[in-house]
Amino acid sequence: MKSLIDITDLSEAELRGLMDTACDIIAHPGEYCEKCRGRKLATLFFEPSTRTRLSFEAAMLELGGGVIGFSDADCSSVSKGESLADTARVIGCYADIIAMRHPKDGAALLASMNAGVPLINAGDGGHCHPTQTLADLLTVYRAKGGFDGLTVGFCGDLKYGRTVHSFINALARYKDIKTVLISPPELCLPEYIKTGVMARAGMVWREAGSIEEAIPELDVLYMTRIQRERFGNSDGYSELEDAFVLDAEKMKGAKPDMCVLHPLPRVDEISTDVDPDPRAKYFEQVKNGKYMRMALILHLLAHAGEQGGRPANAPEAHGLVCANERCVTHGERGAEQLFRRNADGSFTCLYCESELRTSAGLHND
Ligand code: NCD
Repeated sequence: MKSLIDITDLSEAELRGLMDTACDIIAHPGEYCEKCRGRKLATLFFEPSTRTRLSFEAAMLELGGGVIGFSDADCSSVSKGESLADTARVIGCYADIIAMRHPKDGAALLASMNAGVPLINAGDGGHCHPTQTLADLLTVYRAKGGFDGLTVGFCGDLKYGRTVHSFINALARYKDIKTVLISPPELCLPEYIKTGVMARAGMVWREAGSIEEAIPELDVLYMTRIQRERFGNSDGYSELEDAFVLDAEKMKGAKPDMCVLHPLPRVDEISTDVDPDPRAKYFEQVKNGKYMRMALILHLLAHAGEQGGRPANAPEAHGLVCANERCVTHGERGAEQLFRRNADGSFTCLYCESELRTSAGLHND
């Protein structure tokens, strides 16, 4: 079953097709308002969300389809002890397509292996959030006309910000992308993304200590909030320093056509005095998210009969356990350990993508 778990599940041609469809929906909405008549989307939100859930619901309604679901784990049978695998299997009997958000890294893959209908990852823990990336891509595409050669700054919580992880994965397919990483040291980008995604794709990156220092060279500045809900006891973080807050004064140092993106919700990392600046694209990004979700629902329903394939465990990985304590393989019934073996002898957990090095003891980023 074709699902969208990670942005890399979509080829560059598919991404291009989704952006073309979204632009066509914007130009001719009337032609799409009956396309999903008689079809149902289930939104399973085990974690709070306003815009992503409502964006999915608005997308399906604008396609003429219906919506069922829940917005709080306490309203589902999980609160009675049901496994995620069973919940996905049951909902797949009612709906044609599922959008799911869950606090555990890798939960979307586990659910998709059991749902029997296409499943869209609407955010799995701190891992990834591919449909936010679709919104980000369309926003940059409409503002810049393409992606090759862009210099993109990422600012804020790059450790737990799943939207950042997915957006970097998408940018990795384009040519000559440079990134500037602007974060407090305790919230810097995970090593597996630097070495596993950026280095492999030949993306150039550097770290900067403040927005002010980085802003003159940027074509896109991607702001994020601090993901306080994902902190374990050991990795606390208290104050957001001024170096990571964008305001109108700092915008004076930016290129006249730089765009500012933010997945929202904003807390205090973008001052409201930036909002009237035409380079602030974060509310347009919200609209683009709905159009891209419409395009995605149409795409996945059109390919619903295709086999997505169940990932297989590397034979040498037998007996290994994922070291990421936030991974869905910990504490979730029916989640067998699955690993891919890498050329350097390390293993990658197929659910949460964290790396495991067996020679130097268990190592996880
Ligand atoms: C993001 C998310 O949920 O990861 N928001 C969103 O999808 N609109 C970013 C965030 O929560 O900070």
